[in-house]
Amino acid sequence: MTSTTHPPLDLVFPAAEHLPPDPGEARLAALYDAGPPGTRHLRVNMVAAVDGAAWGPDHRSGSINDAADWRAFRVLRALADVVLVGAGTARAEGYTMLDRPRGLEHLSGGSPLELALVTRSGRLPEGVLDADRRPWVVTGRAGAPVAAGAVGADHVVEVPGPDGDDDVDLPAALDALAERGMTRVLSEGGPTLLGTLLAAGVVDELCVTTTPQLVGPGPGRIVAGGGPQGASSAPPAPARLGHLIVAPGSGTTVARWELR
Ligand SMILES: NC(=O)c1ccc[n+]([C@@H]2O[C@H](COP(=O)([O-])OP(=O)(O)OC[C@H]3O[C@@H](n4cnc5c(N)ncnc54)[C@H](OP(=O)(O)O)[C@@H]3O)[C@@H](O)[C@H]2O)c1
Repeated sequence: MTSTTHPPLDLVFPAAEHLPPDPGEARLAALYDAGPPGTRHLRVNMVAAVDGAAWGPDHRSGSINDAADWRAFRVLRALADVVLVGAGTARAEGYTMLDRPRGLEHLSGGSPLELALVTRSGRLPEGVLDADRRPWVVTGRAGAPVAAGAVGADHVVEVPGPDGDDDVDLPAALDALAERGMTRVLSEGGPTLLGTLLAAGVVDELCVTTTPQLVGPGPGRIVAGGGPQGASSAPPAPARLGHLIVAPGSGTTVARWELR
């Protein structure tokens, strides 16, 4: 380990603002405001344990989240036009078509919450296919015909990337979703998708909840993928703290980091 000399620096212990339970979540919604409807914005929401684990022993993030995370999670879903999720997460977490969080419909202006799955293969979990509404599928050349067989060509966003038939151009995908009126995008992961979104430089905001537990060896981090041995060759990128909320009982922290 090399030692670095840092200049003297003030530290602050922030004054507490109490955010009591609120069925309408007005204050939390204001804290997560990302501009008026129509503003293009990609927010990613992830949860991690104190030791960096991105999922629990059951391979699901549901086993490491908690009530504080749940409050923010609901507000973020209420504020989004579409949830963008990797097909791997949709399979692991058993995603179905999404409803607006009950009681927070007023935050979204009454529009339905869309679901968009990112996949190379075009293979979709059954759970998203047995509803009246259909998900959007973001995929490349190879995945498009497979996905079209399940959701219809009009719900396939075919955005081929330069690296082969199964490559997906994520910036082009965000453009295509915006053209369809989905400008406020909430990605719920997973780690592989987040790795490629970060590499593409399109993430405006990363929300990370840290829950007070250690899962131990095994699970990956909230970011996966990259070069040899999964390591990134890019230098660390800066993040600015937008806000930090603490659940005083548990110690769970709910942070909003601005990346762009
Ligand atoms: N801690 C958290 O907040 C959090 C959030 C979400 C998930 N998770 C956990 O993460 C685990 C899953 O990790 P994961 O990395 O496999 O999740 P993932 O990124 O959702 O899934 C990977 C799969 O999604 C598709 N995909 C992702 N990025 C893509 C891209 N750039 N282009 C094309 N397709 C892409 C591919 O699907 P195809 O195979 O169909 O080509 C790929 O195999 C689960 O245990 C889940 O519970 C944790």
